[in-house]
Amino acid sequence: MNLIVAVSRDWGIGKGNKLLFSLKEDMKFFKTMTTGKTVVMGKNTYLSLPRRPLPNRVNIVLSSTDFEGAICVRSLEELLEEAKKHDDVFVIGGAGVYRQLLPYCETAYVTKVDATAPADAYFPNLDEMPEWECVSETEAQDAYPLTFCTYKNKKPTEF
Ligand SMILES: NC(=O)c1ccc[n+]([C@@H]2O[C@H](COP(=O)([O-])OP(=O)(O)OC[C@H]3O[C@@H](n4cnc5c(N)ncnc54)[C@H](OP(=O)(O)O)[C@@H]3O)[C@@H](O)[C@H]2O)c1
Repeated sequence: MNLIVAVSRDWGIGKGNKLLFSLKEDMKFFKTMTTGKTVVMGKNTYLSLPRRPLPNRVNIVLSSTDFEGAICVRSLEELLEEAKKHDDVFVIGGAGVYRQLLPYCETAYVTKVDATAPADAYFPNLDEMPEWECVSETEAQDAYPLTFCTYKNKKPTEF
């Protein structure tokens, strides 16, 4: 299992159930990385999407509610069982879901946005977690300078 996220300088990821920034280059990267794959998200993130379900991807939603066009799972245990049936799984948020699934992820694709913005949703600072190591970085220019960072988990939890 992998995850993909865009963070501000202080690892903020959202406010008022919206993204902090609108970034064309990052959206392109997200699309390239996840198209044809399976994406996992929480209910709030699913409801925040401009187009639901995300096209050309299998959508799995963690929620107590059912959504048409998505596989809905009601617990972490159910999600992990479902994820075993899929080849390429990307966790795409939000804060609560990232936090629960981080230990199971092998790779984290983190877009670091060189900007700050008020946030109410945060991602854990991987630079302060010894089990996570940044193995590659690529710089890009968008509305703000970006760094596409690939982090590897030295000891992912098996499921
Ligand atoms: N920057 C980025 O890359 C990025 C990416 C994605 C999202 N975001 C941002 O993140 C924020 C949303 O994060 P969030 O933490 O509020 O919401 P979230 O993680 O998207 O969704 C939380 C909801 O998912 C369901 N859920 C979570 N864990 C579950 C479990 N183990 N079992 C069953 N259901 C579970 C619950 O829904 P029920 O109420 O149905 O039980 C819960 O209320 C937004 O601001 C969004 O824009 C940012």
